Amino acid sequence: MPAGPDDRHERRTGPAEAGGAQVERPQWQASDVEPGTVVVVTGGAQGIGAEVSRHLAAAGAAVVTADVARAGWTTDGLDVTHVHADVSDEASWAQLVGAALDRHGRIDALINNAAIYQGLGSKRPFTDITVAEWDRVMAVNTRGVWLGMRAVHPVMKRQGRGRMVNIASSTVHMGVPYFAHYTASKGAVIALTRSVAREVGRDGITVNAIAPGLVETEATRDMNDDDYLAASAGRRAVPRRMEPSDLCPAVSFLCSRGSGFITGQTLIVDGGLAFS
Ligand SMILES: NC(=O)c1ccc[n+]([C@@H]2O[C@H](COP(=O)([O-])OP(=O)(O)OC[C@H]3O[C@@H](n4cnc5c(N)ncnc54)[C@H](O)[C@@H]3O)[C@@H](O)[C@H]2O)c1
Repeated sequence: MPAGPDDRHERRTGPAEAGGAQVERPQWQASDVEPGTVVVVTGGAQGIGAEVSRHLAAAGAAVVTADVARAGWTTDGLDVTHVHADVSDEASWAQLVGAALDRHGRIDALINNAAIYQGLGSKRPFTDITVAEWDRVMAVNTRGVWLGMRAVHPVMKRQGRGRMVNIASSTVHMGVPYFAHYTASKGAVIALTRSVAREVGRDGITVNAIAPGLVETEATRDMNDDDYLAASAGRRAVPRRMEPSDLCPAVSFLCSRGSGFITGQTLIVDGGLAFS
């Protein structure tokens, strides 16, 4: 099996300090994804997934993006491979994992980011949501996350390590109204994260969720007018608009070796609007 991300930083120690103690000298910041880490990012064609993929690849990761849509960005020499995949489909996951292994021989991290959001149209009472819509949202946003973890688990278990990061939403904590199928699907992602974390910890695998606040992407600008976006920004402890890049450090950290003792958690990244 090809070598994984370089782990020299875990062994390397520096010269004795004045007090005589050996002090660890990390080769990279423990909070960054290590160069050579192989990461699969679903929903990487646009929005948050595209920004996260670019960020991880710029840090030296080898990224495989998976999306039903064509990627709307160019890789600019970064190690990024775009693969067509539908996360709600079991067979699609087998192909995606196969493609990532053919190219890189391993999968160190999975970012379950794909979700239906943009296509949901305007928010509406839960009584007006159709069964077909409910099922579609659950199939992509919840089943897709479960299928993804299920598909990469054997690979990570064989490797003896892995990182799974599921993108949830702070709508769960905020109790956002008129969006019942979406918030329910993301609540389930948080529950799944906890449950699977307990099952796979002994395999060297961590599973965490990130719950973003309202991020300004094409999708959110489509669904919310500017007054709503501005008002939302103003209510934050850090009162500014949120961009996809605000999520990158959290994702990078949860993919890194340094996060190995954190699992089953949901990190809200929203500038301090919702508190867990
Ligand atoms: N933008 C926000 O304000 C916000 C807030 C909280 C959480 N989130 C979550 O962050 C993630 C990314 O959101 P975004 O704003 O970038 O959304 P987006 O709509 O811009 O991107 C989602 C991507 O997922 C892809 N996708 C949809 N269905 C798919 C499927 N079946 N298989 C594979 N790919 C599929 C889409 O083609 C798209 O490229 C989502 O999980 C979303 O729920 C977003």
